[in-house]
Amino acid sequence: MIAWQEPLVDAVYVVAVLVFILGLRAMSSPATARRGIVQAGVAMLIAVAVTFVIPGLRYPNFPLIALGVILGSLAGWYWARVVQMTAMPQMVAIFNGMGGGSAAAIGAVEMLGNLSNTSISGLALAGAVIGATSIAGSMIAFLKLQGWLRSKPIVYPVQQPTNIAVLVVGVGFGVYAVWMTQTVWLLPFFVLMILFGLLLALPIGGADMPVVISLFNALTGIAVALDGFALVSGPLGDAGYAMVIAGTLVGAAGSLLTLLMAKAMNRSVGNVLFGAFGATEETGTTIHGSMKPIEAEDVAAMLAYANTVVVAPGYGMAVAQAQQKVKELADLLEARGVTVKFAIHPVAGRMPGHMNVLLAEAGISYDKLFDRDEINPEFSNVDVVLVIGANDVVNPAAHRAGSPLQGMPILDVENAHNVIVIKRGQGKGFAGIENDLFYKDNCHMLYGDAQAAVGKLVTALKKMD
Ligand code: TAP
Repeated sequence: MIAWQEPLVDAVYVVAVLVFILGLRAMSSPATARRGIVQAGVAMLIAVAVTFVIPGLRYPNFPLIALGVILGSLAGWYWARVVQMTAMPQMVAIFNGMGGGSAAAIGAVEMLGNLSNTSISGLALAGAVIGATSIAGSMIAFLKLQGWLRSKPIVYPVQQPTNIAVLVVGVGFGVYAVWMTQTVWLLPFFVLMILFGLLLALPIGGADMPVVISLFNALTGIAVALDGFALVSGPLGDAGYAMVIAGTLVGAAGSLLTLLMAKAMNRSVGNVLFGAFGATEETGTTIHGSMKPIEAEDVAAMLAYANTVVVAPGYGMAVAQAQQKVKELADLLEARGVTVKFAIHPVAGRMPGHMNVLLAEAGISYDKLFDRDEINPEFSNVDVVLVIGANDVVNPAAHRAGSPLQGMPILDVENAHNVIVIKRGQGKGFAGIENDLFYKDNCHMLYGDAQAAVGKLVTALKKMD
């Protein structure tokens, strides 16, 4: 062992961790998020690079590590470039699954090499339980979000007891392997943990998956931290410290994000995981009134002569990729002296920050985006709210006792003088329930694909000049 390597590695890890934390902090605001991502990436690069000088690392491992880094970087770079914004959740599911798989693999290697050391193998076992569950669950999340597996919750009798039995027997095999120091029991352990991850994710509806992916992400962080603790006790101790810190940060950030998303949907994490939300539909509710269609030219006139217009975007805007047209519309209205604001619900769309990212991509400045608490008190003074492909996040059924959405904090757009809803037809939102808003006297429906409909508004407004 060469003496200078150890302090160098420790010092570089401290720097990497600091840059990583600063990056995470910058990600908390849309204005600095881009910088934060670059910072966190640089921190990760530094941490990976310094791995090569860890004392005790055997030379034959270098080409393997380099190969992994090159292949992983190329694949990640390519996918991130070609992915559509609407397909981002499934890409995150895959990437997160890889993290879980790596944690499980490190756990396996640590157990195989140190089975007689109960503290190392115990920690590695815990990391492997979580890592194997995460990779399998993340793969189901990917298949559902990609539409390659039925997106609705897949439920069957005695589902939860079966899952618990698989978990208990699987962990039992792992504990027995460590206890008896017999590697052969690790095989059924891993098979059952992967099966548990698959079964756990089956009853979760496709649209709940972002919350679940965030949870798996948090769990993967914890698995990595546990593996790090196992490594710290071994010959490559230094690498372990970095994993403990990075894993803990990911675990903490992922847990907070999971709780925030669940809160914004007014659901508990337990309900998301075990509630099979969306498996049944709401029945027995009668909404009075009718849906009133309106033509683009009439909407354009309404918008042109308004003082304030608020745009409330949702999942449909993302699917239709209508953000550029929306920007064009906002520019035209502002040129006419209309104040245009954007009302952003925390779970509009299908992933955290979905609307912020899309609108930023179209060049809409952050100071025009208002969150629910900021904009809700203003709606009664707004002339027109333009709801674009949003449904659940503007559904006043959330205020109705007994509704599946009861208690979900929504954008109170119905308080505006006029509401125009752009959607293709009578389709329901993710929660699968009727929207009371569409039947209100002050609400009109502009039917069509969001991009095409906003395009018609742009054309009509231009003709008015
Ligand atoms: P949704 O409730 O999913 O409604 C989207 C609406 O867009 C649909 O009613 C659909 O009606 C319309 N639409 C679909 N394609 C369209 C297109 N090409 N052009 C125009 N309209 C189109 O959306 P939301 O209001 O954004 O709510 C999000 C939901 O997802 C919430 O329930 C939330 O809890 C859930 N969720 C969100 C997240 C995150 S983190 N964002 C995570 C998990 C779950 P038509 O079919 O009639 O067009």
